[in-house]
Amino acid sequence: MKKSIFKRLFITYGITLAVGFGILALMLLKLFDQYFIENKKALLLEHGRKITKEVAVGVYLGNLDQARLKSDLHILDQFLDARIWIVNQEGVIFGVSDPEEEQLLGERIAEAKLLSLAKGSSIMERGNFDGKLQEPSLTVGYPIYVNERFKGCVLVHASLQEVQRTSREMFRLTMWVMFFSVLIAFIVLYIQIRRISRPLKEISEAAKTIAGGEFQKRLQINTQDEIEELGRSFNHMAESLEKIEENRRNLVANISHDLRSPMTSIRGFIEGILDGTIPAEKHGHYLGVVLEESKRLIKITNDLLELSNMQQGKTEVRKSTFELNEVIRRKLIAFEQRITEKHLDVSLVIHEEKTLVFSDQVLLERIISNLLDNAVKFSPQDGKLSIRTWEEEGRIFLEMMNTGTSIDSGELRRIWERFHKGDASRGEYRTGFGLGLAIVKEIVSKLEERIRVESGKDFVKFVFTVKKA
Ligand SMILES: Nc1ncnc2c1ncn2[C@@H]1O[C@H](COP(=O)(O)OP(=O)(O)OP(=O)(O)O)[C@@H](O)[C@H]1O
Ligand SMILES: [Mg+2]
Repeated sequence: MKKSIFKRLFITYGITLAVGFGILALMLLKLFDQYFIENKKALLLEHGRKITKEVAVGVYLGNLDQARLKSDLHILDQFLDARIWIVNQEGVIFGVSDPEEEQLLGERIAEAKLLSLAKGSSIMERGNFDGKLQEPSLTVGYPIYVNERFKGCVLVHASLQEVQRTSREMFRLTMWVMFFSVLIAFIVLYIQIRRISRPLKEISEAAKTIAGGEFQKRLQINTQDEIEELGRSFNHMAESLEKIEENRRNLVANISHDLRSPMTSIRGFIEGILDGTIPAEKHGHYLGVVLEESKRLIKITNDLLELSNMQQGKTEVRKSTFELNEVIRRKLIAFEQRITEKHLDVSLVIHEEKTLVFSDQVLLERIISNLLDNAVKFSPQDGKLSIRTWEEEGRIFLEMMNTGTSIDSGELRRIWERFHKGDASRGEYRTGFGLGLAIVKEIVSKLEERIRVESGKDFVKFVFTVKKA
């Protein structure tokens, strides 16, 4: 059988409550008995003494009126709810309070008891007084002394059954009160535990739904406690999962789209060459296009692999001290052909002739390449390209700016996303995949540096930091 929190808590608390109240009940039962018996004892002792005094006075004056004694005893009997016997110095019962006990008149009480009374001490006992009483009782005995001489005793018996009945009655009443308290406690317990277990069940259901692929599932928990917090965290998680899933879908869609166009053109040209639609003298030209397209395929595959390695933390960072200006120069030379083709006016302003930095040279070259590639690619014919370095707050700042283009503010935030291409990149510059800046951003965060972009009406400017050696 499946164990639920609800059952477990309910049983645990239930047992605790039941055991607690059970012990309390037993203790009360004992206490009540004791209390009522003690009470009765005190009452018997007090009245026993009074009767003894009265009887002693009668004996002393020699005017112990049997008839009066009988009626007095009877009244006391009713008042105390106790049987009273008067015994003479020989141990013979000569007065009883209950007319029904008159057959006891003339009987003797046990020698031992008489003896201890004769010595002047009072007695107290529980039981049926050597078989003379019908029901178990509490007995108090007082000796009667007149002029220092033992003249007999007074015995007062109170039925214990009566005492017990009162005590039981009280106990029953208390039990009812306790029963209702327990009942209310259980109801409150039930409601409280349900408040915990129900939302937990809901969360578990929702988790299953999400595991099944329905990422839009959200919880609505209003318990104002840790469980509500859990629900909120859960919703947060669901949101993240939904976003990840959306990203994954977009990624697949983007990759398929970007792979398809070069592959389609490769296939088209090769088919054209094979079936003769493309005349032999144009083969050279189209094979060149095929080569370019396959280079693009290799570039996107490499970029994607690089990005994924970087995001998985597989790319190692190997920092060393090297000269930055040299790296910039080398990169400019690598782009020289494209720069001259576009008649770009290049200006280079460096901080110092020798600018030593501490960074990963390969990764830094990658940043400069990608930024330079964009700057050259998006610059118009005869545009301006400027590279500047300076020192600030112990770091080297490198600025790469090109004129003739701009990125509007809404776009600025999105250019770092992978596969994000501006309108410009779709037209004549359709060679891009929108991965360059995503890689740059990954590298910059790997190197624990910063980068920002700025764009005005007629320029685009990227600035990033490198640690000084
Ligand atoms: N120097 C720039 N001038 C104008 N727009 C730019 C510049 N650099 C980046 N952008 C915009 O940002 C977008 C994203 O740049 P990113 O380098 O990530 O992609 P891409 O150059 O289009 O493709 P890839 O770098 O993968 O070849 C570009 O498509 C372009 O719209
Ligand atoms: Mg680029």
